[in-house]
Amino acid sequence: MTSIDPGATGLLRLAPSILSADFGALALAVEGVDAQTDWLHVDVMDGHFVPNVTIGPPVVASLRKYSGRFFDCHLMMSEPGRYLEAFAQAGADGCTVHVEVGATRSLIDDAHALGLRVGLAANPDTPFDRVAPFLDAIDLLLLMTVFPGFGGQSFMVDVMDKVVSARREVDANSLAVDIEVDGGIDVATAPVAVRAGANVLVAGSAIFSRPEPLAAAARLRDAAQAARP
Ligand code: DX5
Ligand code: ZN
Repeated sequence: MTSIDPGATGLLRLAPSILSADFGALALAVEGVDAQTDWLHVDVMDGHFVPNVTIGPPVVASLRKYSGRFFDCHLMMSEPGRYLEAFAQAGADGCTVHVEVGATRSLIDDAHALGLRVGLAANPDTPFDRVAPFLDAIDLLLLMTVFPGFGGQSFMVDVMDKVVSARREVDANSLAVDIEVDGGIDVATAPVAVRAGANVLVAGSAIFSRPEPLAAAARLRDAAQAARP
C-alpha cells in the first residue's frame, strides 16, 4: 500500500524517527505524534552496514494499520536490493538506500519499478560528488548528520557544506528532490539545517525521548519553520 502522496517536493517535512520510541509500544508512539508528523522515519539496520539491528518489513506492515503518514524507510543495509519488494509490500512509501553500498543505479531503478519514492543517503564522510550524478534520478537526498547506527548522537555541523551544495544543485536544475537531514536534529540544530537548505528533518531523541513527544515535535516544527528562507 503506497498510501500517501508526499505532496509538493521542497515543503518543510518533519519526520519523527521511531528509533528512539519504545519498541514495545510503537503503535501508541506513532499515534501520539500523528498531529505533528508529516512523514514517519523508519530506521532499518542490518547489523552489517551498521553495528546495530532494528526492525524490518513485518513491523512496517503492523504500523501501517496505525498511521496514514508517508513511511520514509531508511535502509541502513549492505544489501537493500534483497528487501525492497518486502518493504513495498509492507506499505513503505519511500525507501532510501546508501550510496556507499554500490549498485546505486539499479537499486534506484528497482525501487521506482516497485512504485516507491526513492532516496539516496550519504554518510557524513562521503563527498557530495558521490551522490551528485544520481540527483536527476532520485526523489530524495539524505545527508546524514551523524554516522548511522544509533540515535542520540551529536549533530555534525560540517555536513552543512554538503547540504548547501545539494540545495544549490537541486534549485539550479529545478530538480524535484527533497533534501533530508538525519541525526542530532533538535530545536537548536534544525534551524541550522534549514538555513543550509534542508527541507525534511528527521528527529528521534528530540521527539521520542522527551516527556511529551507531541509538544516536542511542535516545538521542533516551529523552530524549523522560523528558519525557512
Ligand atoms: C541514525 C538514524 C537516525 C537517528 C535519529 O542511525 O538513521 O534516524 O537515529 O535519531 P536522533 O535524532 O536521536 O539523532
Ligand atoms: Zn535514519
